[in-house]
This record gives sequence, C-alpha cells and structure tokens, in this order.
Amino acid sequence: MSAFQSTQLSQNNSRSAAAACTPQRPLAEGGQKITLRRITARTVADICDLSETLTTEQRAMVADNAISIADAHFSESAWFRAIYVGEDPAGFIMLHNGYDYEDGLECHGVFLWRLMVAGPYQGSGVGRGAIEMIVESLKARGISELYAGCGQGPSSPAPFYEKLGFVPTGVFYGDDDDEIEIVLRW
Ligand SMILES: CC(C)(COP(=O)(O)OP(=O)(O)OC[C@H]1O[C@@H](n2cnc3c(N)ncnc32)[C@H](O)[C@@H]1OP(=O)(O)O)[C@@H](O)C(=O)NCCC(=O)NCCS
Repeated sequence: MSAFQSTQLSQNNSRSAAAACTPQRPLAEGGQKITLRRITARTVADICDLSETLTTEQRAMVADNAISIADAHFSESAWFRAIYVGEDPAGFIMLHNGYDYEDGLECHGVFLWRLMVAGPYQGSGVGRGAIEMIVESLKARGISELYAGCGQGPSSPAPFYEKLGFVPTGVFYGDDDDEIEIVLRW
C-alpha cells in the first residue's frame, strides 16, 4: 500500500507549498537562495551529472536529467530549468503545459513532468522551494492546480508530495498501475 493510500491526507495542510508561497525567493537550509535557471551549453553537462548523485533506487523514480532534457526537445509543451542553491547546481525541474499530447503525456492541466534534487541537497528544503516557485508563477497566470505522477516502492517520493499538500486523484498510470496521479490545488 502506498504512503498516499495508507495516510490520512489533509487538504488544509498549513505547510503546503500552495499555502506557504511567498513572492520572495525561498531559502534552502543554511540560508542560501534557491533559484530556477535556464540550462545553457556551458551548464548542461553539470546538470546531467547531477543524476549520478541519486541512489540506484531513486534513479528508478525519475529519468536521468540527460533523458529529460532530450525529452523536452521533442515536446512542444515542455518547460524546464535547473535548480540552484546559491551558485551551485542542485537539481532539475520540468513541467508539461498539458496542451499537446503528441509526446505521450496525457494530463488535463499543468503536470510536474520531472523533479530531482541532487543527493547532497536533499532534505534541506530545495524540492519544497522549487515547487513553491512553480506554484507562485502558476498562480500569477491564473492556474490553480498542479498535477504530478508518483511512483511506488521504498524510495517513493510520496511522503515529500504529501508534506506539500498533494492528494491522489484516483488515476493510475503505467502498465501495472504502479504510478499514481496526484494534484496540488490552491
Ligand atoms: C523527492 C525529492 C524531490 C524531495 O526533494 P528534497 O529537496 O529532498 O525535499 P525537501 O527537503 O524540500 O522536503 C520537503 C518536506 O518533505 C519531507 N520529505 C522529503 N522527502 C521525504 C521522504 N523521503 N520521506 C519523508 N519525508 C520526506 C521533508 O522532511 C520536508 O518536510 P518538512 O518541510 O516538514 O521539514 C528528492 O528526494 C529527490 O530528488 N528524490 C529522487 C528523485 C525523485 O523521486 N523525484 C520525484 C519523481 S516523481
């Protein structure tokens, strides 16, 4: 049973990313600024290398950044950025705008296509900070929900998404229904 299925979820979680959003840039533990930056020819190799910092089990949960960046270039609906803590690359985030299904992703709204935080930066608020920035920018565009998919298993990110206030929609993906669709509404 998944963490989502076994835990009573609170949609009014006062610490949810939606509730916690502020116009300021979030800070990682230690006070360094979290920013989302375009990937350039100069930085792409460093961002790809971040995948090497995940455990084998975590790498089963999210595509390598090199694959994600390639996927983005074959989609008309992808938006992606590197996550920085201070001046250091610390992760990767990619959204699908939900309007073009040619790339195989079917969702009614904006979808968190990929998210990873490099091993050394995990557990210091970087993932939360990145989602807060996305929520803030979606809010500004009049969008009020963000969908995501959540894999199951020992390294599932389900507890992270629960903490942020995501709830299951009841939709499952994958050949074995092993990925559940979740949504954050504000
Ligand atoms: C899931 C992931 C993105 C979380 O990023 P992170 O920066 O480590 O998470 P944060 O530090 O922002 O955590 C936010 C909250 O979630 C909690 N949390 C995060 N991961 C958790 C876990 N595995 N178990 C329990 N709680 C967890 C944190 O304790 C924190 O709670 P708090 O705000 O009450 O202190 C990161 O662990 C990761 O990249 N994992 C591997 C790839 C992956 O699974 N990506 C998602 C694909 S769908």
